[in-house]
Amino acid sequence: MTFSEELSRRSEAVQKIIYTYLPAEEGFQKTLLEAMNYSMTAGGKRLRPLLMQETYRLFGGNGKAVEPFMAAMEMIHTHSLVHDDLPAMDNDEYRRGKKTTHIVYGEAMAILAGDGLLNYAYETACRAFVLEPENPHIGEAMAILAGKTGIYGMLGGQAVDVQAVGEPLSREKLDFIYRLKTGALIEGAMMIGAILAGASKEEIETIARVAADVGLAFQIQDDILDVISTNQELGKPTGSDERNHKTTYITVQGLEKAKTDVAAISERAIRTLASLPQKNDFLEELIGALVTRRN
Ligand code: IPE
Ligand code: IPE
Ligand code: MG
Ligand code: MG
Ligand code: MG
Repeated sequence: MTFSEELSRRSEAVQKIIYTYLPAEEGFQKTLLEAMNYSMTAGGKRLRPLLMQETYRLFGGNGKAVEPFMAAMEMIHTHSLVHDDLPAMDNDEYRRGKKTTHIVYGEAMAILAGDGLLNYAYETACRAFVLEPENPHIGEAMAILAGKTGIYGMLGGQAVDVQAVGEPLSREKLDFIYRLKTGALIEGAMMIGAILAGASKEEIETIARVAADVGLAFQIQDDILDVISTNQELGKPTGSDERNHKTTYITVQGLEKAKTDVAAISERAIRTLASLPQKNDFLEELIGALVTRRN
């Protein structure tokens, strides 16, 4: 099986797990639940739950507790996208190849669907306590999930990002934004995989460094694709950053330097991963493949 066949197989398996945790569309708040599921089932690469599962496997994890956390992480990520696309933020009309949630359900329902996904993520992750009451690491995993999402994680990064419009940004501030708005959830995903599998403190720290590089490279590549890709390939509008007068890695460093940096940062991630005695060849290939991703 080629890497890309294996990737589709594993992404589909991840997606199946996520689907089992989506809420039933019933009751007076049915529209809210439909709007939440609309964005969750629209597609997407499922990268964060995939990274979580593969890191869990890297450290020998073979239980069920990781599954609600995988679904929870994808809910939090999807929440961030639904809100990121709102008119008050990036004002984008397409996401994952479909009309954005606020275009289909209206702005008020999209705000609530984003909130709904964020809260339901924690309700979902809590199910791990029932699935594996004997696992002593679930509390620590919950703390990482909450922390990487919040004001010192993704939400903090998004806040600095929305203010970074039309003004030159220092390299330091740009790094801060990328480390938080995108890096934090990827760090959370990989750290939770390691924690739930019982990795040591040093191993979790190593994984956090790998994930920080994966996240930085991932956001720089996202900026590159916003410039060089097509709407169809990407499933979301290209040129969004320029339209919003965003200062990005490209405006600060230029397109060519951005491309070489994505490759160099990803190589550093793979080297750090390879410094661990545990091996997961698929995870290593996955990180390498993100450098040349087209969506
Ligand atoms: C998009 O994330 C937002 C960023 C952090 C760059 P993804 O590129 O992982 O989006 P999906 O989940 O595949 O739609
Ligand atoms: C988004 O950054 C990071 C999030 C936390 C959603 P972008 O605004 O560049 O993401 P896209 O390009 O809309 O997916
Ligand atoms: Mg944005
Ligand atoms: Mg955006
Ligand atoms: Mg972008």
